[in-house]
Amino acid sequence: MNKFYYIFFLTIFYLSCTNSNEEDAFLNNDCNTEDINYLSTVRQIVNEKCVACHLSGTTNGIILEDYDNLVIHIENVFYQINSDLMPPIGSLEITECEINQMESWYENEMPL
Ligand code: HEC
Repeated sequence: MNKFYYIFFLTIFYLSCTNSNEEDAFLNNDCNTEDINYLSTVRQIVNEKCVACHLSGTTNGIILEDYDNLVIHIENVFYQINSDLMPPIGSLEITECEINQMESWYENEMPL
């Protein structure tokens, strides 16, 4: 009987470790979404993932290279990102963490 309980608890323990959702672990441990501001975080994300194609003078008409222009387009930016339209297939992907950071920034009224 003792052996049975031992194996039972060992199994529960094993499941509790392996069942943890990878994305949750990622969000909780490695992704800081507190006190995000434009200059410290959002600018880097947008520069890295968007600005190559969204500089002033580009033909698509969406400028994302500075704070004011990003804010003008912010609703559309989230729409494009959350619909998987931007960044386009073939460019550097935006990560879940980066999206969460940008959303947290937006909810905090987009501090500079
Ligand atoms: C490889 C180039 C490229 C990258 C990288 C890129 N875009 Fe775009 N984007 C385009 C082009 C071209 C268009 C215009 C044609 C279209 O809508 O597909 C566009 C259109 C848009 C539009 C307007 C869409 C509409 O129809 O209203 C938004 C907003 C946008 N991009 C946001 C972003 C954001 C945010 C990122 C980064 C996360 C990003 N883009 C990265 C090329 C790019």
